[in-house]
Amino acid sequence: YQIPFVANEEVKSYVPGSPEREELQATYKKMYKQVIEVPQYIGSKVVKSGNKKEIRPPHDHQHIVGYYHEGTQDDVKAAIDAALKARRDWANMSWENRAAIFLKAADLLAGPYRARINAATMIGQSKNVFQAEIDAACELIDFLRFNVEFMTQIYADQPISSEGVWNRVEYRPLEGFTFAITPFNFTAISANLPASMALMGNVVVWKPSDKQIYSAEIIMEVFREAGLPDGVINMVLTDGAATSKTVMEHPDFAGLHFTGSTSVFKSLWKQIGNNIDIYKTYPRIVGETGGKDFVIAHKSSDAQEVATALVRGAFEYQGQKCSAASRAYVSKSLWPKVEKEMKKALDSITMGSPEDFSNFVTAVIDANSFKKCKGYIDRAKKSKNAEIVFGGKCDDKVGYFVEPTVILASDPHYESMVEEIFGPILTIYVFEDKNWEKTLELVDTTSDYALTGAIFAKDRYVLNQGIKALENAAGNFYINDKPTGAVVGQQPFGGARASGTNDKAGSAMNLMRWVSVRTVKETF
Ligand code: SER
Repeated sequence: YQIPFVANEEVKSYVPGSPEREELQATYKKMYKQVIEVPQYIGSKVVKSGNKKEIRPPHDHQHIVGYYHEGTQDDVKAAIDAALKARRDWANMSWENRAAIFLKAADLLAGPYRARINAATMIGQSKNVFQAEIDAACELIDFLRFNVEFMTQIYADQPISSEGVWNRVEYRPLEGFTFAITPFNFTAISANLPASMALMGNVVVWKPSDKQIYSAEIIMEVFREAGLPDGVINMVLTDGAATSKTVMEHPDFAGLHFTGSTSVFKSLWKQIGNNIDIYKTYPRIVGETGGKDFVIAHKSSDAQEVATALVRGAFEYQGQKCSAASRAYVSKSLWPKVEKEMKKALDSITMGSPEDFSNFVTAVIDANSFKKCKGYIDRAKKSKNAEIVFGGKCDDKVGYFVEPTVILASDPHYESMVEEIFGPILTIYVFEDKNWEKTLELVDTTSDYALTGAIFAKDRYVLNQGIKALENAAGNFYINDKPTGAVVGQQPFGGARASGTNDKAGSAMNLMRWVSVRTVKETF
């Protein structure tokens, strides 16, 4: 299949004096002063319920940047009806036509919408400029373009035929409608979950996180401008639990594409199980859930590299990546140098509003997250098994600011070593050099999660040992690198165990879940 050449979108630098910096700063300032209204998108209708909820930047929580119109379960039902109404025409459209819409959306995001989607992600989700660029611009554009490439790879896979017989498989969309529930922490994931299913010919009810509505609105605008027909993706702004119940009680529910917490995902799976008799087809269930992502550093590793990986892996986007390093195991003889280098790096970074492009750290997403982080920090201050070696300050007067915090735990099962926090808190356990093998086992058995992990060592025998010992501990495993920052087309992303169904976002493996294959044998 001939499709436009696919390459990863280049990350813009935003260095002082660059045109992209000036454009983004001006866009941010302009948007910050406006008060937007976000409607629901249901079929051909832009629905304003009148039940307005405030949108406030996490780094400036007394400031209102907009309102969204909260919907009801009648809106969810209307979204399901609109999706089912659009299904036949959309499913019967040739793949080139579907692809063209998403490729155009990628071009719109790469060009005219780039500053707006980045500014929306900075304002609504408190990402710094670089974190917004790699997410809302690059990763999102990559998902849209690479998905087309993956789709053609899937379609090209055909069985063999023989004289007088033509065997073929048709990659049809699922029968019914699909449901996307998306998180606040990546604008790219939020767009990709509904878009990937729609690209494969499915119709979608999409429920974005209420913490990501500012950028979700722009995604809908872009899809519509790119020519997405009404009803293919319907965005509802409704209560999550009630929406899931309404959707999953519908006989035409055919698939769930989810990114969010493990507990919510398990409860959805149970509901689907309970309703299994009402469905026309077994629903597909794809979920990426929590993580307690690790870094383990052998004494043979480079202390500087380990320190950089820990600082970037744990604290970029305030530790709110599902891939973020949150527990580290460092060999005793390496630790003094790692600690020194980490402190040097952390001393040089600043925290504040993303409007100031030099800030590395901004606010955590909301009051609940702030409270949770503060709780871990306060308890660590009092615990005999923990010592705070960096950070520890929290201030929510203007925004939900939590300083990057490093806790040293003397007990490898100390609470912040094992529990998912989803904030800028890294807990480190220093192990005796001679206990390398025991520590590998500890890393593997300490957590129920298996999303990302990183191993640092220069000694190849030791690396080999770790690669084997940790083979089930992380769906994305990094050797001598930080455990975050998977790139579409380069590192398919997803975890197993309690971290998800491991259907790798950014790969054909994921798109395969959104088709129902008809095998056709024709005899001449
Ligand atoms: N894909 C992101 C990363 O690798 C996490 O969702 O950091």
